[in-house]
Amino acid sequence: MATDDQLTIAVVGLGFGAAFVPIYQSHPSVAEVVICDPDRGRLDAVGAEHGIARRLTDYDEVLADESITAVHLVTPMPIHAEQSIAALAAGKHCACAVPMGMSVREVEAVHAAQRASGRNYMMMETAVYTREFLHLKEITDTGDLGAVQLLRGAHYSNYENWPAWKWYPPMLYATHALAPLLAISGTRVASVRCLGSGRMPARFTEPYGNPFPSETAIFELTGLPYPLAAEVTRTIFATVRQELESFDVYGERLGFEWSRVRGRPGLLHRLEAGAPEHGRHPTVITEELESPDRTESLPADLQPFVRSITGPDGRRRGGGHGGSHPHLVHEFVESIVAGRPPAIDARISAAWTLPGICAHESALAGGAEIPVPQL
Ligand SMILES: NC(=O)c1ccc[n+]([C@@H]2O[C@H](COP(=O)([O-])OP(=O)(O)OC[C@H]3O[C@@H](n4cnc5c(N)ncnc54)[C@H](O)[C@@H]3O)[C@@H](O)[C@H]2O)c1
Repeated sequence: MATDDQLTIAVVGLGFGAAFVPIYQSHPSVAEVVICDPDRGRLDAVGAEHGIARRLTDYDEVLADESITAVHLVTPMPIHAEQSIAALAAGKHCACAVPMGMSVREVEAVHAAQRASGRNYMMMETAVYTREFLHLKEITDTGDLGAVQLLRGAHYSNYENWPAWKWYPPMLYATHALAPLLAISGTRVASVRCLGSGRMPARFTEPYGNPFPSETAIFELTGLPYPLAAEVTRTIFATVRQELESFDVYGERLGFEWSRVRGRPGLLHRLEAGAPEHGRHPTVITEELESPDRTESLPADLQPFVRSITGPDGRRRGGGHGGSHPHLVHEFVESIVAGRPPAIDARISAAWTLPGICAHESALAGGAEIPVPQL
């Protein structure tokens, strides 16, 4: 049986999940990587590419295998909660792709399962390990921003050509736009008001009965000694825009805006020192903010995965989602080895998932204020 300082990890679901396989294989505290996917073709392709012997088609085999210390679920969203609960109940640590669940009941059940098991649960939120987020966090931690005054997040995508399980209500997958705002400001969401927007093509309303191509929410935040709100927009259908995950944070002395064009540097707005002349606007200096790779906290073998690298077969690997993947893997693995909760534990995962679920409920109720359960 594997010990907690030399882990055997099962990566479950090998679409996006395949990107994590070589990162776990490179981690010094991982002894073996097992892969699981009911799609035999995908399983064998990933197994052959990375030289993996143990390939399982049935998740129940993962659960029953005592040599497996932890699972990383990268499976369809509708089964995240049930698979997480099953992993924790089987005594395994569990990492799961966003979101934690699709209903308040599911999120509460995963949270309860983590507490009952005493094992680690981590929602693998890429948006709080991008190089841009890590850079801004460093700036805000110095206090240079002053008080946070206004927050705005957006995630524009289009899942019309994906399997029908991805045709979810936009706010059910809002964590990439919301989590950075909550993490930077150190706040939680108390309540939400949200409106749906646009004309929904009828064929996308199933399987979730969602009538909205896009949703815009105002989240009322709590945790600071003054009022704070965050505005978040999420589009998934029939709304033309280059795909983008972004967040903006405005403080008393600095403001940061993610570039509206993918791949371009963000903007930093800085208040010029000294009082402006009476009757004039304060001078704001705006400059592009290049965010460097953040590798210093990673083991040497994981550092190359922050950027995409070319493998021996000439294919590009790694580097996705702002270089976040190796950081997520390292945090999950290290939390298990150190016997501490991960940075995004069950309580934080719930605090980042529930507001989107409540936002969609608000949109269905014509923008009614919905309180967000606090776990
Ligand atoms: N930035 C991010 O955090 C990010 C990016 C992409 C996808 N995701 C999330 O990752 C998850 C997977 O998305 P994807 O794009 O890879 O989807 P996908 O459909 O390409 O892949 C899902 C895989 O899971 C497998 N699968 C289905 N049922 C399974 C089961 N019971 N047990 C094991 N495997 C099973 C499928 O065969 C498939 O290979 C989703 O929840 C998605 O939202 C997150």
